[in-house]
Amino acid sequence: MVEPDGVAGGAGVSAPGLVLLLSGPNLDLLGQREPDVYGTATLDDHVAAATAAAAAVGLTLEHFQSNHEGDLVEAVHGARGRAAAVIVNAGALTHTSWSLHDALAAYDGVVVELHLSNPAAREPFRHTSTIAPVADGCIAGFGGLGYPLAVEAVARILAGRA
Ligand code: DQA
Repeated sequence: MVEPDGVAGGAGVSAPGLVLLLSGPNLDLLGQREPDVYGTATLDDHVAAATAAAAAVGLTLEHFQSNHEGDLVEAVHGARGRAAAVIVNAGALTHTSWSLHDALAAYDGVVVELHLSNPAAREPFRHTSTIAPVADGCIAGFGGLGYPLAVEAVARILAGRA
């Protein structure tokens, strides 16, 4: 489906240019939390960078953060038929949440898994991702740069489907 603004979306998506950015537990503490691992930028800083990157390619970004798994599952449900893509940094739920996995499996838009750090290079418990099997791809290890990169990936994937 190609909209008048040239932004493509999936079949049945009511807001074809909408990208939902989801932030999981403890990401509200970015800037204060383990700055040696996650940097000093706040979540608001990352959302602003993602919002600007989205606007530059004609997409609209909506952000939702929660420390509660069920809230994130419901946010994915709410993206069904509404958002063309979900970018998700699920925090530690990445390594444990099969309910988030299943919610994303029931979502038919583009899914990008995002991490500030590179979980594959960290403790063994971070080497498993429940999101990876239901994601189109993953951007990890580039710090805050990952946010605009994820938006760019979404824009290119959607354009490729136009
Ligand atoms: C993280 C990596 C996870 O392993 C960790 O639990 C987080 C942040 C990241 O962005 O690097 O909370 O998702």
